Amino acid sequence: PVEVFDLVIFGATGDLANRKILPGLYRRYLSGQIPPECRIIGAARSAMDVPEFRNMVRAAIAEFVAAEKRDDAVIEAFISQIDYVAIDAKGEGGWSELKALMRPGVVRAFYFSVAPALFGDLAERLHLHAIADAQSRIVVEKPFGRDLASARALNETLAAHFSEAQIYRIDHYLGKETVQNLMAVRFANILFEPLWNAQYVDHVQITVAETVGVEGRGAYYDKSGAMRDMVQNHMMQLLCLIAMEPPYHFDPDAVRDEKLKVIRALQPVPPEDIVRGQYLGAKGTPGYVADSENPDTKTESYVALKVQVANWRWQGTPFYLRTGKKLRGRASEIAIIFKEPPHSIFDDAKGWHENVLVIRLQPNEGMNLSVMIKEPGPGGMRLTQVPLDMSFAEALGEDGADIPDAYERLIMDVIRGNQTLFMRGDEVEAAWAWTDPIIEGWEARDDKPRGYDAGSSGPEDALMLMHRDGRRWREIR
Ligand code: BG6
Repeated sequence: PVEVFDLVIFGATGDLANRKILPGLYRRYLSGQIPPECRIIGAARSAMDVPEFRNMVRAAIAEFVAAEKRDDAVIEAFISQIDYVAIDAKGEGGWSELKALMRPGVVRAFYFSVAPALFGDLAERLHLHAIADAQSRIVVEKPFGRDLASARALNETLAAHFSEAQIYRIDHYLGKETVQNLMAVRFANILFEPLWNAQYVDHVQITVAETVGVEGRGAYYDKSGAMRDMVQNHMMQLLCLIAMEPPYHFDPDAVRDEKLKVIRALQPVPPEDIVRGQYLGAKGTPGYVADSENPDTKTESYVALKVQVANWRWQGTPFYLRTGKKLRGRASEIAIIFKEPPHSIFDDAKGWHENVLVIRLQPNEGMNLSVMIKEPGPGGMRLTQVPLDMSFAEALGEDGADIPDAYERLIMDVIRGNQTLFMRGDEVEAAWAWTDPIIEGWEARDDKPRGYDAGSSGPEDALMLMHRDGRRWREIR
C-alpha cells in the first residue's frame, strides 16, 4: 500500500475525472493499494453537496469499472472517504472549506484536471491560502501548451509556486504497462542492446492507430490536430524510450536526461517527409469536416512522418511515425525492423529475412519477435518466418490479467513521489521546439491535408513515404 494521502481533484465533475481518475482510484482501492484512511476531495465549480458528488462517483464506477470488479461493499467503503467542495478557481469561494478538510502529516496531492488557463489561478490560490506546502505535489494534464511559447509560460506559472520536484506532468502513454516494459526489455537483457543501433536496425515504425473519430471533442481537436494531440507528446515519448542511451540508473532524472538528449537530437523534418490526412465521410458517417463543425478546417486527423535522430547510435536509421483517427483498426505498436543478414547462404532468399521485434501497446499488450526458421517437413531447406510471441497477460497468468490502467499507475506514482514516468519541463519545451517549425510550415504554406476513407489505413501518400525508401508500413489490422 501507498502512504496515507489527501488527494484533491480540481475539475472533479469533468470527463477525465469520471472516466479515468475516479474509476482508477477505486480499482487501486479494491486491490488494497490505497489504505482506507486516504481521502479524495472533489473540487469543481458546480454547487453540489457531498452526497450528490458521491452519487456521481457511484455512477462513474458503474459505467467505467468492469462488472467483475464492482463490489458493493468495497464501493461504499471507498465512497465514504470522498468529500466535495464547490470552489471558484478564480475567486475566493470554497478555499477556506478546502483548507479545513486537509489533514496534517499526510501526503498532499492536487490534480489539476482543468483547462491549462486555470493552472496559474489554482497554483496561486493553493499558496495564498496556505493549502499547499513544500512537500505537496501537483499533477497536470495535457495539453501542456500548444507551442513552445505557451508551454514556457505554463512552466513559468507553475514554477512561481512549485519546484520541479513537486510537478507531475502526465503523459498517460508513459503509464502503459508495455511502455515501461520497453525499458525492462532493453536494459535488463543482454540480447537486444548490442543490436539496438544503426548498424543492425534498418528502421523503426511507431504506429498509434485509432478507429474512433474526434468523438464530441471537435472544438478542442480542431485547434490541435494529430501533431499536437499525439505526436508532440505520446509518440515523442515512445520514440525517446526506444532511441535513448541507457540511463546510469533507473532514476527519474537519469531517465529524463537521456530522453531529453534524444529530443534535442531530432532533425527538422522537411515537408516531403510528412503526410497529413483528414478522414472523409462515407455512407452516413460524417467526415472530419462535419465532426469538427468547421467547414474550412485544415486540421489533420492523421499524420505520418519520417524522423531522423542525429546522433552516433542512430545515424541513418529512420524512425517512421504515424497516427490517425478513423483508421481500419485500433493498434498501437512499435516495430523494430532489423537489417537482413549480410549474406544469404540459402538459395531461396526471398528478400525478407529480417527479424522484427514488435512491442504491442494495445490491444493485447505484449511482444513478438519474428525469426527465420526452416519450414518443417521434407521439402529441403526452405525458410519461413515464425513469431516468438509473448502476451504479457498470458505470461503473467492471473496477475497479468490485472494490468492496471495507465492513470491508476501514474496516480500511485505521484503518491509515492516517483517522477520517472512524468515529463520534466525541459522535455516538454524541447518537444515543442521540434514540433513548432513543422506546424508553422503548414500554416505558412496553407497546407491542406489529404483525404482518406474512414476505415482505411490512411492517405495513399503515406504509403509513398515508405515505398520511396524501399520499405513498407506494417499492416493495420
Ligand atoms: C489522448 C488524445 O491524449 O490520447 C486522444 O487526446 C487519443 O485524442 C488518446 O484518442 C489515445 O489514448 P489511448 O490510451 O486510448 O491510446
